[in-house]
Amino acid sequence: NPPNTQMGESSAPARWNCRAKGGSSGFKVAILGAAGGIGQPLAMLMKMNPLVSVLHLYDVVNTHGVTADISHMDTGAVVRGFLGQQQLEDAVTGVDVVIIPAGVPRKPGMTRDDLFNINAGIVKTLCEAIAKCSPQAMVNIISNPVNSTVPIAAEVFKKAGTYDPRRVLGVTMLDVVRANTFVGEVMGLDPREVDCPVVGGHAGVTILPLLSQVKPPCSFTQKEIGYLTDRIQNGGTEVVEAKAGTGSATLSMAYAAVKFADACLRGLRGDAGVVECAYVSSQVTELPFFASKVRLGRAGVEEIYPLGPLNEYERAGLEKAKKELAESIQKGVSFVRK
Ligand code: NAD
Ligand code: LMR
Repeated sequence: NPPNTQMGESSAPARWNCRAKGGSSGFKVAILGAAGGIGQPLAMLMKMNPLVSVLHLYDVVNTHGVTADISHMDTGAVVRGFLGQQQLEDAVTGVDVVIIPAGVPRKPGMTRDDLFNINAGIVKTLCEAIAKCSPQAMVNIISNPVNSTVPIAAEVFKKAGTYDPRRVLGVTMLDVVRANTFVGEVMGLDPREVDCPVVGGHAGVTILPLLSQVKPPCSFTQKEIGYLTDRIQNGGTEVVEAKAGTGSATLSMAYAAVKFADACLRGLRGDAGVVECAYVSSQVTELPFFASKVRLGRAGVEEIYPLGPLNEYERAGLEKAKKELAESIQKGVSFVRK
């Protein structure tokens, strides 16, 4: 690239370059960790989203290659690449939504909490830049352990005086995607017709599928409930073990992240009735953060729905989930306050 040419924009003469002006209306989205296992397919799918006019791809390695590759797709969004910490602030300036899949993934035998030591610092640094350069942005946090990284983000924004709890969301959509798929398999339903709320958090027993509230209404046996709950709670581990040391879910996660980001963008656009599960600042339980169904709108999370009627099995699951969640939240908060 000649000097001053933004990575990802063509160096062709101006008239030839007019395609790059194609996406003038629409939202600006940044992906932090864009060269990773999730980041790359996520970037590709966001480039295909007609609601996106500008796509910023940031990573500490290999952004040039990913940006060059994705920028050749003949869709509307203009793609720009940003490499290394010195370009982080430019990457997040002026964007409407920031999606964060930066950080290390699990290997077999690890819990998500084992990632805390590395990923907590990464999420903190990224959120400090967002607080400084794009305090109005809606932030979708994918980096694990989500149960702690969302409280970390909230604390960073509080410290900077920019915290808007409606705009900080932990992405738990993959749990819902898995729940819909597995329920579909058991009941012989098309997964696209299944809607299974998953509440709580995003790790082990904190992942609480509400099978009693599945739509269309399903009557499960106790054996089916045990099988489905276990499979949904351990879906991440199932993939980690199948990948045998090479990483965790990336493709299904990119799919789920785009499904969730698209819902956020439709909310920001002002669409009515955009409801998804997410891990957010919440008063649904006594805990300060909890995943449940939320309505997304122009301000971000505009309404948080109560859990609805739970059966005895789900009430017992909720108590277990809350106990672990409380510790993970406290760990995240202490990390920033220390
Ligand atoms: P990966 O290692 O393939 O990619 C991570 C990317 O982050 C890499 O490109 C790396 O260079 C980048 N990175 C590292 N430090 C960075 C920094 N300081 N700034 C910007 N980028 C940085 O990992 P992956 O498989 O893409 O997973 C990423 C994270 O997402 C992991 O923490 C994983 O546990 C989590 N995850 C969450 C869910 C969920 O449902 N929320 C699902 C799957 C994975
Ligand atoms: C998942 O649910 O797939 C992710 O949280 C990754 C993991 O470590 O399981």
